[in-house]
Amino acid sequence: MALLDILVYPDPRLRNKAAAVEEFDESVTTLVADMTETMYAAPGIGLAAIQVNVPRRIIVIDTSEDRSDLRVFVNPQIIEKDGEQQIDEGCLSLPGIYAPVDRAESIVVRACDQHGEPFELRAEGLLAVCIQHEIDHLDGKVFVDYLSRMKRDRIRRRLEKEARKRDVA
Ligand code: NI
Repeated sequence: MALLDILVYPDPRLRNKAAAVEEFDESVTTLVADMTETMYAAPGIGLAAIQVNVPRRIIVIDTSEDRSDLRVFVNPQIIEKDGEQQIDEGCLSLPGIYAPVDRAESIVVRACDQHGEPFELRAEGLLAVCIQHEIDHLDGKVFVDYLSRMKRDRIRRRLEKEARKRDVA
């Protein structure tokens, strides 16, 4: 397994649209293992392949406190949405940034696991938010896109400043 580099906003590669996985070969299981390790090490509760610069429709999520609930979604699609909720979202591609976003309260998602086995899952609360957030990444979208332009510009300047500091150090 290997730790992967996570792209940081406003890296233009976060805008790539991910392509559906057609073949469930070893490249998928290896990527899922590496993404899982990278997510846990960060630490984070969700990671989309786009964030490690792999434009394939693959997501890993674990919203448990003790890393006991790993979920893998390949080619995920939301087929039902209900209600509304807002929680402060964060993102491994926007370190230190948190903001509330309007999301559905409950969803039904259809996806495959890393071996190509199809499943459907009804999710609510944090897990539902997390799935919606990660699927956005697959479409080149990040959560700050939902904020006002002014807030987004402020966040971009802050992250660019921090990146410059890192480059100098
Ligand atoms: Ni994210």
